Amino acid sequence: MNTVTDQGTVAQRRVHMTLRVNGEEIEVSFAPYKTLLEVLREDLNLTGTKHGCELGECGACAVLVDGRPLLSCLTLALECEGRSIETIEGLANGTELHPLQAAFADLGGSQCGYCTPGVLMTAKALLDSDPDPSPERIKEALSGNLCRCTGYQQIVESVQSAAREIREMEHKISASGARGGAA
Ligand code: FES
Ligand code: FES
Repeated sequence: MNTVTDQGTVAQRRVHMTLRVNGEEIEVSFAPYKTLLEVLREDLNLTGTKHGCELGECGACAVLVDGRPLLSCLTLALECEGRSIETIEGLANGTELHPLQAAFADLGGSQCGYCTPGVLMTAKALLDSDPDPSPERIKEALSGNLCRCTGYQQIVESVQSAAREIREMEHKISASGARGGAA
């Protein structure tokens, strides 16, 4: 439950709430008009999510909310109480890169990197729902994420490569589980 502290003027009013970011419950206090992008970057110091157009046109600010890509520049942080927020900072597993991050680094899916956090989070949501997307499906899913550097071909190839890697990893895990069960 959030609480509002009125310190005199509307401009000074702040809300206190708990946000669930990358699996961690974090208490935060912010002005109620702030977007999720602003609260992530300015109040939680999670600056991996990028600040682009702030008009809903570039996708640089995309994060996952309850597993779905959302433009954090158009979302009030207030609306996110009790919801699961995933940002680029939570994508790697400790020091182990997510297969998407590894594929983007290996195949040139990221150049200047400004669009990359939004692209990676949007691609993660896609692969979570479709483990073997066609190039057309990848392009459609990423159509709201603008990139000025790569020409998109490397981005699509990187997502396809990561999808293969994830499928192979899951195949190995289920094969070893089946062997363990048979033992
Ligand atoms: S910064 Fe959010 S869409 Fe561009
Ligand atoms: S890598 Fe530079 S904008 Fe996409």
